[in-house]
Amino acid sequence: MPESLTKLTYQTFQQSKNYFGLAHKILSSRLRNLVYPTLEQKTKPIPNELLPKLQQRLNQLLETDWQDTQKGVYPESLLFDNPWDDFFRYYPLIWLDFPQMWERVKQQSYQDFSPEIDIDAYPSYYVQNFHHQSNGYLSDLSANLYDLQVEILFGGAADAMRRRILAPLKQGVKAFELVTPRQARILDVACGTGRTLKLIRAALPQASLFGTDLSPAYLRKANELLSQIAGELPQLLQANAEELPYVDDYFHAVTSVFLFHELPATVRQTVIEQCFRVTKPGGVFIICDSIQLSDSPELGYMMDFFPETFHEPYYKHYTTDNLLERLQKVGFENIETQVHFMSKYFIAHKPA
Ligand SMILES: C[S@@+](CC[C@H](N)C(=O)[O-])C[C@H]1O[C@@H](n2cnc3c(N)ncnc32)[C@H](O)[C@@H]1O
Repeated sequence: MPESLTKLTYQTFQQSKNYFGLAHKILSSRLRNLVYPTLEQKTKPIPNELLPKLQQRLNQLLETDWQDTQKGVYPESLLFDNPWDDFFRYYPLIWLDFPQMWERVKQQSYQDFSPEIDIDAYPSYYVQNFHHQSNGYLSDLSANLYDLQVEILFGGAADAMRRRILAPLKQGVKAFELVTPRQARILDVACGTGRTLKLIRAALPQASLFGTDLSPAYLRKANELLSQIAGELPQLLQANAEELPYVDDYFHAVTSVFLFHELPATVRQTVIEQCFRVTKPGGVFIICDSIQLSDSPELGYMMDFFPETFHEPYYKHYTTDNLLERLQKVGFENIETQVHFMSKYFIAHKPA
C-alpha cells in the first residue's frame, strides 16, 4: 500500500475510535442521568471552546506517531493493533457493570471490594475503586475491562500515547554501545495488562523484558496478552513499586506508564528512588503520565473535574507535583520533558 494511503487509513481508523469513544460517553451519561438523575450535576461536559484544542493535540499526537514509524522506531503494523477479541467479548460487560458503578457513585463508596478479595495484602492507598471500577484493580473482570475503558477515555489514543516512550527508550538503550540488542534489560513498572510491554517488544524484539504490578489479576491478563507474541516471554512479577525485587543497577532502561497520578505524593518519591536504584548507571528512566497544570494550563478545567468524575484520589496533587525536582533529588540528571495530547513524559538519565 502506498505510504499516503496507509497514513490516511491510520488517521481514519483513529478518528473512528475517537467518535466511538464520544458516542459511548454521551450514551452512557444519558442513561445514567435517566436512572440516577441526582448524579447529573456531579459531571460536567467539556466546554465547547476546548474541543478544537483537544482535536489539535490529538492530530499532533497521531502525526508524531506516524512519523516515528517512518523513522523506523517501530513497525507500521503497531498503529493498527487493536484488541478486537477483547472488544467483542468484553464491551457489553462494561454496560452490564454500569448499574453497580453508578450505585457506588451515588453512595460515595470508594473502597468497595468483594469479600473474597484479601484487601489487607495491599497498601491502603491502593485499595480504592479507581475510576469507580468494580473491585478496583483486584479482579479478573476489572482486568478484562480496563484496556477498553482507557481506550474510551482517551478516544482511542491510549496506545499512541504509550508509544511516545519508544523513541527515547530505544535511544536510551543504544547509549550502551557494548550491549547487544539481546543483552538489553528493560523493566516496565506497574505494567498493568501488559500493553506497554507489547509495544516495547515490537520496537525492541530481542531485548529481555520485565514487568511488575501489584495486581495479580492484571498480571494474569498481561501474561495472556504477552504469551501470544513470538519470541522470549517477558518476566512478570507481582511486586510493589515501592520495593522493586531486583538488585541495584540491573536494567538498561526502566519505564512506567500511567502510574504516578495514582500514588500519594510520598509514595511517588519512594517509587522514583526505587527506579533510580535498579537502573544501571548511564541508563534511562521514562515516565508517561497525565499532563500537569504547569504544561497545559488551558486544560485546567479538565484536570479539575477528572479526579471527581473518575475517582482518582491522588490526581489533584499530581497535577501540581514537581516531578522534575523529585527525579533530581534522587540523582537523575539530563531530564527532558515532553507533552503529547493528554500525557506528559519525563526522560531522566542516571549518571554514567
Ligand atoms: C492506570 S493503571 C496503568 C497500567 C499500565 N501501565 C497501562 O499503561 O495501562 C495503574 C497500574 O498501576 C498498578 N499499581 C498501582 N500502585 C502500584 C504499586 N504501588 N506497585 C505496583 N503497581 C501499582 C495498578 O495495579 C495498575 O495496574
